[in-house]
Amino acid sequence: MRNISLLFKQFSRTVLLLAGLTALTTAANAQGDPAKGETIFKAKCTACHKIESKLVGPALGPQITSETDDAYLIKWIQNSQALVAAKNPKAVKIYNEYNQIPMTAFPELSDADVTDIIAYARAEQKKLTEGGGDKKTEAPAETGPSSLLIWGLIGVIVIAFIVILVLNKVIGTLERLLLKNKNLVIDEEPEVEGEPVDRLAGIKKLAKNKKLVFFVVLCGAIAMGSWSWVTMWNTNMHQGYQPVQPIKYSHELHAGAMKIDCQYCHSGAYKSKNASIPSLNVCMNCHKVVKTESPEIHKIYDALGYDPDKGTYDTTKAKPIQWVRIHNLPDFAYFNHSQHVVVGGVKCQQCHGPIETMSEVYQYSPLTMKWCIQCHKRTEVNFKGNAYYDKMTQVHDMIKKGQKVSAAVMGGLECSKCHY
Ligand code: HEC
Ligand code: HEC
Ligand code: HEC
Ligand code: HEC
Ligand code: HEC
Ligand code: HEC
Repeated sequence: MRNISLLFKQFSRTVLLLAGLTALTTAANAQGDPAKGETIFKAKCTACHKIESKLVGPALGPQITSETDDAYLIKWIQNSQALVAAKNPKAVKIYNEYNQIPMTAFPELSDADVTDIIAYARAEQKKLTEGGGDKKTEAPAETGPSSLLIWGLIGVIVIAFIVILVLNKVIGTLERLLLKNKNLVIDEEPEVEGEPVDRLAGIKKLAKNKKLVFFVVLCGAIAMGSWSWVTMWNTNMHQGYQPVQPIKYSHELHAGAMKIDCQYCHSGAYKSKNASIPSLNVCMNCHKVVKTESPEIHKIYDALGYDPDKGTYDTTKAKPIQWVRIHNLPDFAYFNHSQHVVVGGVKCQQCHGPIETMSEVYQYSPLTMKWCIQCHKRTEVNFKGNAYYDKMTQVHDMIKKGQKVSAAVMGGLECSKCHY
């Protein structure tokens, strides 16, 4: 009995030792998956970090490569403020170095996720030291209004013209034949008589031809009609409208390269009728420290009455930036963003195009009534997980059962139906 328990003790000790050793070695050179790390990095970190250079926070390539204590990095990335609060000397040092801008906490990232990011940053840094990176650029797709109608119109006019010319020739030849039959020598006539030639005689004769006149008038009417049709359809259409904005703010950089979520600046689109343009204070979250020397950023400072040297605001000097509005429906048409974005689940890009590739925003869609209607005809409604449609289904059942449906059931008691 004693022997067996001794053996068992020895056995468990070796197992524990081995387990401890393997745990130590894996912790020392944590093996993450750089590909997974890249995805997380691009989704969560690019708003403030680049691999190769400083942004809001330090350049992560060299920063993470030089830091050997992975356990510290993991804790930092999951919750840097906790480390600062616990007075971790490394954490406090870098926090002060970066003017005490708190880094976002990422409690949702597991140790494995963070290890993947670390692996990605180190792999990228290695690539950078070995050779330069490359950049991809994508040109936004060009879309113009269809010119089919206009070309059709020009075609009709050209054909009408040719027909007139041919008819003219035919009539001329016929007349000459007629005259010849009457034995009159036309060629000599003008010289002999010495009278001035009536050069408009041909046209006058044509004008007397009722069929021809009717044809010309008809062509003219068709041409005018289609021209006004096209013009009317395009009245007040501003597809492609791209005004110059007072600050060279780029969606390509902020929403594209840096992957800042649209919601960060246009939160209204998810909550209300209007998407709304962000106030400059939103920009200041970053631009208090980013690109402080740029003249474009100084426009933000001037607009807010902010003094970058003293770090103070003087509201008496503030004068709001006048962004030029691009998308604008007439007042008589009601359009609601949250209805489409939240309820309908329509992506911003379906209506606004590839905003994240536009260095200057332009109007991508025509915003005509036809455009609204065509999409409404094509798009299927998703009834699942929607309180409004759940209610509609209820009402449907009530009707089936022969119950009365009051205005109250249809939402007639909801405050917002009567109060805007
Ligand atoms: C809102 C901006 C912001 C975001 C988002 C952000 N960081 Fe940071 N990060 C900072 C700032 C600022 C610092 C400098 C320290 C400080 O001021 O807190 C920093 C510092 C760091 C450091 C250096 C820590 C040290 O002690 O060397 C690492 C590593 C780091 N961030 C990783 C990440 C990773 C990984 C992500 C994405 C999961 C991320 N950060 C997302 C702003 C951000
Ligand atoms: C950092 C803040 C920020 C982010 C992030 C951002 N925008 Fe903007 N957006 C602005 C500002 C400022 C303007 C006004 C200046 C301009 O038109 O460029 C604007 C203008 C627009 C306009 C034109 C508004 C008009 O006048 O009709 C559209 C459409 C738009 N944004 C869509 C988006 C979409 C879609 C995203 C996400 C892919 C996005 N934005 C992300 C700040 C932001
Ligand atoms: C999450 C951080 C963040 C926010 C919010 C933000 N920016 Fe930026 N912006 C940056 C960074 C980082 C750069 C510099 C990128 C680079 O060139 O290295 C930049 C660059 C710029 C530039 C180009 C400056 C130059 O001279 O190259 C302009 C202009 C600008 N931002 C305007 C704005 C405006 C206007 C807003 C608010 C609607 C805004 N930004 C919001 C991070 C931000
Ligand atoms: C179904 C099409 C559609 C979708 C989806 C859509 N928009 Fe719009 N957006 C419009 C129309 C139409 C206007 C013009 C509204 C008006 O003039 O009343 C507009 C206007 C805007 C404006 C100008 C300011 C304002 O408040 O009207 C911004 C900014 C904007 N959209 C951003 C967004 C963002 C961000 C998203 C995604 C979250 C989005 N839009 C999704 C159609 C759409
Ligand atoms: C990209 C497709 C798309 C475009 C473009 C679009 N819509 Fe819609 N719209 C939807 C969808 C999807 C719904 C249904 C949302 C839901 O589930 O209730 C909807 C619903 C609506 C509703 C609510 C209807 C109801 O049942 O109460 C109104 C109003 C509306 N749209 C107006 C407009 C206007 C005005 C325009 C043009 C300026 C427009 N929409 C353009 C997709 C679109
Ligand atoms: C069927 C339409 C309708 C609905 C639903 C409705 N209201 Fe009203 N409400 C009115 C009308 C009409 C008046 C103005 C009555 C008057 O002037 O005597 C009013 C007046 C009021 C006032 C008084 C305003 C004042 O100046 O005295 C308040 C507060 C109010 N409503 C709140 C609500 C709230 C909260 C709800 C949702 C629980 C709601 N209402 C739902 C139609 C409605």
